[in-house]
Amino acid sequence: MKLKLFRFTIAVITAVSIPKLSAQEPPQPSANSVPPPAPTSVTAPAPAFAVPDLTPLGVSALAANCAACHGTNGNSVGGAISGLAGIDREYLISQMKLFKEGKRTATLMHQIAKGYSDAEVAAMATYFAEQKKQRQ
Ligand code: HEC
Repeated sequence: MKLKLFRFTIAVITAVSIPKLSAQEPPQPSANSVPPPAPTSVTAPAPAFAVPDLTPLGVSALAANCAACHGTNGNSVGGAISGLAGIDREYLISQMKLFKEGKRTATLMHQIAKGYSDAEVAAMATYFAEQKKQRQ
C-alpha cells in the first residue's frame, strides 16, 4: 500500500515538474525567423576622474599637484626648484610642451608634463600667472 502511494507521488511530481523544466528552455529560432536586432552600441559616459575639472576649484586642485616641488601656490622655498607664481602664462605652456615632447632636458618634468592635457596645462598656466610672488 505504502509503495503504491510512493509510486503515485513520484508520478505526480514527474508529471508536474518535467513540463515546467522544458518550458524554461529558450525558444529555438525557426528557419524563417528574423534574428533579433543587434544591440546598438551605447557609449558609456567617461568616469568622473577622466573628465578634467576646469572649474576654479578643480584648477587649484590640479595646481596643488605642483606644490610639493614648486611650493604652495607656486612659491617655491629654497630656490633649488624655480617658483611658478607670477610666471608668464605662455612661457609655462611652452615649457610644458617642450617637456612633454622631450625637447627640454629634465630630470622630472618630462614625466610630469605628460600627465596633463593641453587644456589642463593652459588652465594651470593662467592660475600660476595670477599667483602673487611672495618675498622670502
Ligand atoms: C616632483 C617635483 C616636481 C613636481 C611635482 C612638479 N615639478 Fe615642475 N619642475 C621640477 C624640476 C626638478 C624642474 C626643473 C626641470 C627638471 O629637472 O625636471 C621643474 C621645472 C618646471 C618648469 C620650468 C620652470 C622654468 O623656470 O623654466 C615648469 C614650467 C614646471 N616645472 C611646471 C610644473 C607644473 C605645472 C607642475 C604641476 C603640474 C609641476 N611642475 C610639478 C620638479 C617638479
